[in-house]
Amino acid sequence: MNPKSNPDTIFSAPIDKIGDFTFDERVAEVFPDMIQRSVPGYSNIISAIGMLAKRFVQPHSKIYDLGCSLGAATLSMRRHINQEGCQIIAVDNSSAMVERCKLHINAYRSNTPVEIVEADIRDIDIDDASIVVLNFTLQFLSSQDRYSLLEKIYHGLRPGGILIISEKFIFEDTVANELLVDLHHDFKRANGYSELEISQKRNAIENVMCPDSKKTHKERFAQIGFSSFDVWFQCFNFGSMFAIK
Ligand SMILES: C[S@@+](CC[C@H](N)C(=O)[O-])C[C@H]1O[C@@H](n2cnc3c(N)ncnc32)[C@H](O)[C@@H]1O
Repeated sequence: MNPKSNPDTIFSAPIDKIGDFTFDERVAEVFPDMIQRSVPGYSNIISAIGMLAKRFVQPHSKIYDLGCSLGAATLSMRRHINQEGCQIIAVDNSSAMVERCKLHINAYRSNTPVEIVEADIRDIDIDDASIVVLNFTLQFLSSQDRYSLLEKIYHGLRPGGILIISEKFIFEDTVANELLVDLHHDFKRANGYSELEISQKRNAIENVMCPDSKKTHKERFAQIGFSSFDVWFQCFNFGSMFAIK
């Protein structure tokens, strides 16, 4: 379930000097529309996160939603969790996102409490977790920080616990990469974004978001010690993976 959103027109007019993309008030205000029209398969992924949560949640455990934005993954998991004594901890370092997230989460009643924390996910403790979600968040960290965060998650997971992680991918095969990037741009065009919006957004985001290949992700999961991992969803150059401890 996605909160109602204003239409995303952030990059619709020409911008003189395009700064780095940030998750500020303007973005938070249009975020549901932006992510729906920009990330192929987003709604399917959100629904499936709920299904995976139902399967992997353990009684009296913690569930983390890291880089929660407006709490879409948290809401999806909370609807499916039916184990006793669980708590969801939703974390984001954007105050604009956190404020709006609180409104969305508190609009629904549930037996599973949600704590919404404004913090950097690199600084928080993770412990006694059965589920950790990184839905399109890891890609905003440096490669060094990606490794340490995934290690911290691994150590904070209970045996049998799951990390669900969605990312934009790059592909080593340059022909495949070009095709999948093009198809993503077609997807954005089909959702009403203009050429100007597509190119200005790309310029704004290219310094702050650096995608990894599926091979890099899998090698890192193996190195850290996850016992089982794979891609469970892919649409163009976006996908979602699980890694089980
Ligand atoms: C693409 S959005 C994630 C979408 C969200 N998970 C969902 O499913 O709708 C990335 C989010 O990660 C947050 N973020 C990026 N780096 C972060 C960090 N170091 N600590 C905490 N949050 C971070 C941003 O503020 C933003 O809200």
